Amino acid sequence: MSGEAEALRGIAVRALEYVRPDTVVGLGTGRAATAFVRELGARVKDGLRVRGVPTSDSTAALARELGIELLTLEEAGEIDVTFDGADEVSPALDLIKGYGGALVREKIVAASSDRLVILVGDEKIVASLGERGKLPVEVVPFGRALCERELRGLGCEPVLRQQDGSPYVTDNHNYILDCRIGTIDDPVGFERRILAIPGVLGTGLFVGMADVVLVQEGRQVRAMERT
Ligand code: A5P
Repeated sequence: MSGEAEALRGIAVRALEYVRPDTVVGLGTGRAATAFVRELGARVKDGLRVRGVPTSDSTAALARELGIELLTLEEAGEIDVTFDGADEVSPALDLIKGYGGALVREKIVAASSDRLVILVGDEKIVASLGERGKLPVEVVPFGRALCERELRGLGCEPVLRQQDGSPYVTDNHNYILDCRIGTIDDPVGFERRILAIPGVLGTGLFVGMADVVLVQEGRQVRAMERT
């Protein structure tokens, strides 16, 4: 197992401490979330009874393969706890997510959850959101030109995400504009201005949503909790 895979497995095993039997669990997207789903699948195989709500088609496929029973959001209603990765975590536990492209469904699932547990390596911890220089924004393809122009007006430089030489298309059949940004002083206000642009479906800013962030630091896992 590679160093990264081992680290992700360590944090995923720790995250299992937050899972209770007979509950509904939100399943995130990305490497850390995938490591968690694999560990959860192993526990399900050993008899743990939980049902999952996936945040992407790829996570749904993996969960099915591992024998985790899935529910739609409509069937689940409320979710007890969701496990997901992140791309940036601030000291206040605010996040930037979406480098993996599933930001809109991830935010819907997170907002439907009693608790959001985030799994990251310590390279994702930042002093201010925006330090890694990118904020993903999902837009309706029809509105792309307008969204790009308005985002420029807000001081960011949008770049259409590509995959294999074509625009990357999300599970919701939309585009991602990866906005080049500096550090964000007012994430709530910045997000409000972005969401006011017709055609924008969602941003990767997750403000006030995470309850627990599990951080892999070398061989240790540190828990940061919202107070
Ligand atoms: C998916 O859209 C993202 O929000 C991921 O949760 C985030 O990019 C972290 O992914 P990794 O765990 O792969 O770094």
